[in-house]
Amino acid sequence: MKKTIRLVLNGEEKNLLVNVNQTLLDVLRDDLGLTGTKKGCNQGECGACTVLINGKPVSSCSLLAVKADGKSIDTIESVAKEGHLHPIQIAFNEKGAIQCGFCTPGMILVTKNLLEQNPNPQIDEIKEAISGNICRCTGYLQIINAIKSLAKS
Ligand code: FES
Ligand code: FES
Repeated sequence: MKKTIRLVLNGEEKNLLVNVNQTLLDVLRDDLGLTGTKKGCNQGECGACTVLINGKPVSSCSLLAVKADGKSIDTIESVAKEGHLHPIQIAFNEKGAIQCGFCTPGMILVTKNLLEQNPNPQIDEIKEAISGNICRCTGYLQIINAIKSLAKS
């Protein structure tokens, strides 16, 4: 069974016809080609599929697309503007916080939300903010350093 949903996706209004049992992650990746949002565990545990819904980080593998009806969704594709990387992306790059890159889209979106809520997070607040996002490569230190470098003291 299919249903039409209306979203504001990366700032653009969209009407989409989706299967009622399709996750938001599968709609983004398979129907819309927004493959920056990664599919890891597909069980709500790794954070690779994080998107911002009305500004808050959500695992898109754990949400049916029909439940996103009427909401504003931002994916990693919305972060760089007009070919220019966002300061968070630059900091991750400069601090060595990106290795394979699989966790990076989710980490960047979680960081964006954190810094909007708390422009000067302490180390424990950074750890708490990224606690739902698994990185198998970096050991987290470079990610924490990158986020800390963005804090406005
Ligand atoms: S793919 Fe969604 S939390 Fe792992
Ligand atoms: S950089 Fe590889 S999972 Fe984080």
